[in-house]
Amino acid sequence: MPTIIFENPPENPQTAQIAEGTSLASACDVSGAPVPFHCRRGNCGTCRVAVLDGAEMLAVADAHERSVLAVFGLSAPAHRLACQVQMLEGAGQIRLRPHAPRMPRAKLLRVPLVLDARSGGFVADLCDERTGAIVISGMSELQEEAVVVVEFQARGEDRSREVIARIVGYEASAIPNGYDVALELLEHDALLTELFQAHAPATSNGY
Ligand code: FES
Repeated sequence: MPTIIFENPPENPQTAQIAEGTSLASACDVSGAPVPFHCRRGNCGTCRVAVLDGAEMLAVADAHERSVLAVFGLSAPAHRLACQVQMLEGAGQIRLRPHAPRMPRAKLLRVPLVLDARSGGFVADLCDERTGAIVISGMSELQEEAVVVVEFQARGEDRSREVIARIVGYEASAIPNGYDVALELLEHDALLTELFQAHAPATSNGY
């Protein structure tokens, strides 16, 4: 019978014995494993885990899973999306380390983004006097559930920071090519977290 060890935290791992042929997501559900899920369709990357042992006992990642892992700078087989993983017959011991839990869903940041024709990306002018501009590049139209890289440079810092976030919803604003966008942080950054906590999530669209 396959055994999965979840190292979260590493000093106090949780062990689950599961039935043959189970998907990793249902193994997590049944065992109450500390792996956060959101979309369960391999789109948001919330359920990413590091595979410390037993990668060969998991079915190979497909192109879609690999492309979402790449957004986070990760690659299979060392990392996987738990919602996409099927365990192979005869699996033995698998050791996983879940990514840190995502930000609570209630903490959304509403950003007034404008499509910038020159860069081909979305730019928000100062949403906070400490943050400078926020830039989301690499996309010419917004998509709900899309995982994006949010780039910003805090005032007084030399280098810009990058944080992974998910587009929860958006609506056109009064500005030409402008949108009010609700973002959910999928990675921790103290400054952006502070901003997220300062912004109320309620909107007319309900996101
Ligand atoms: S829960 Fe969204 S990718 Fe797995």
